[in-house]
Amino acid sequence: MYTNVFLATAFSSKSPKEVVVLKDCLFCIDEQGIIDRIVEPDHADYERILDEYVHTHAFRKIDEGSYLLPGFIDLHVHASQWAQAGTALDIPLHEWLSTYTFPSEAKFADLEYAKVVYEDVVQTLIANGTTTALYFATVHKEASVLLAEICAERGQRGLVGKVVMDLAQECPDFYRDKDTETALRDTEEFILKIKEIAKTTKQGVYPVVTPRFIPTCTDEVLEGLGALAAKHDTHIQSHCSESDWAHQHVQERFGKNDAQALHDFGLLQDKSVMAHCNFLSDDDAKLFAETGSAVAHCPVSNAYFANSVIPIKRFAGMGVDIGLGSDISGGFSPSLYDNSRQAVMSSRMLEDGVDPSKSAELRGVNDSRITIAEAFYFVTAGGGASLSLPIGRLEEGYAWDVQRIDTTVPTAKLPLFDVNEPLLDIFQKMMYLVRPENIREVWVQGELVHSRG
Ligand code: GUN
Ligand code: FE
Repeated sequence: MYTNVFLATAFSSKSPKEVVVLKDCLFCIDEQGIIDRIVEPDHADYERILDEYVHTHAFRKIDEGSYLLPGFIDLHVHASQWAQAGTALDIPLHEWLSTYTFPSEAKFADLEYAKVVYEDVVQTLIANGTTTALYFATVHKEASVLLAEICAERGQRGLVGKVVMDLAQECPDFYRDKDTETALRDTEEFILKIKEIAKTTKQGVYPVVTPRFIPTCTDEVLEGLGALAAKHDTHIQSHCSESDWAHQHVQERFGKNDAQALHDFGLLQDKSVMAHCNFLSDDDAKLFAETGSAVAHCPVSNAYFANSVIPIKRFAGMGVDIGLGSDISGGFSPSLYDNSRQAVMSSRMLEDGVDPSKSAELRGVNDSRITIAEAFYFVTAGGGASLSLPIGRLEEGYAWDVQRIDTTVPTAKLPLFDVNEPLLDIFQKMMYLVRPENIREVWVQGELVHSRG
């Protein structure tokens, strides 16, 4: 009655600080790609299920030296910016957008070009263990639909937004919505089209209402988008309080912080995910917690454009949902392993401080560090909670979104020399040392979507 039964050792987050080891368990997957049961070796049914499946095609024993992790969830990625990843990171955000990024995104009016880049970014993210991604596409409706179609075909769970930017002062003529009315009409048509595609997509694709950020949007479009999200019950994404410049810009326009302004336009709700959020006040963070809005923490990108390290531990402690984002190409790396590592390192630098001319007591912000287990929580269970989807945990009722990590790959062997090494140490080594070569197989909703070597 199960479609697949895996015998494997796996790791999953139980809580932000606690990683559970599921040693030699049977993972029983149903036809919908959902984990129906996880059976531990000492359970009375273990031998019976093993006997029943061991000689069938449904059964798979994961080899020695390989471990399963939940697929990672990228809460903030600009699919179009994959074409410029790693370049132009030496200029400030405002200049980067206007001189570099907007011209680069404008090229996605060409569907042929869009197809080449989007195919590549979706496959690259999957190969890096990312099973769910919350994407910004571009302003172009057709190319945005194409991105969702590619996710659907490749088997990745894609949440896709057609970007809205209609404010003439901040957006060039060659790259913005024609006018407010067109922006809202295109968004609604986009939502309906994606909901159509979703009907035949096992792992799901979802439309996302996507005002780029307040500085590029008129009041009318922000209000209209809040209403559209409510009408069609969609996810919402934007950028919030990312840098000194962006934070100040919104203060000058509305006399309030991004968070409050977004809330006033109906853009903070349970399925909202806001990128960066470095400059949230405590009141802003409370508003996030009350509305169920999530922070997409993008630690690699923040090192270039955010002028600060976000106090992520503080916001997590206030009950805000948090996940990680690559923010390609503000962040250069398509890997959420890289971003997990950077999240830990940035938090350590925030805690200790960075200016050696200051005395130790004045240098940093106490109690700011997170552990690699907390970063793992953000990139799995935290991302799932942020999106209000049953993903990111190896638990009954959750989707079988999984990556197989082979620690023995000759070109990327992990330093494991002691046969009695504790499994939680192996887990930490994986989080810090895994490279794409180690990610040998990836499943989404029970389907194999990537296999290497
Ligand atoms: N703010 C508005 N647009 C963008 C973008 O594309 N990247 C980043 N990092 N910040 C933004
Ligand atoms: Fe971004």
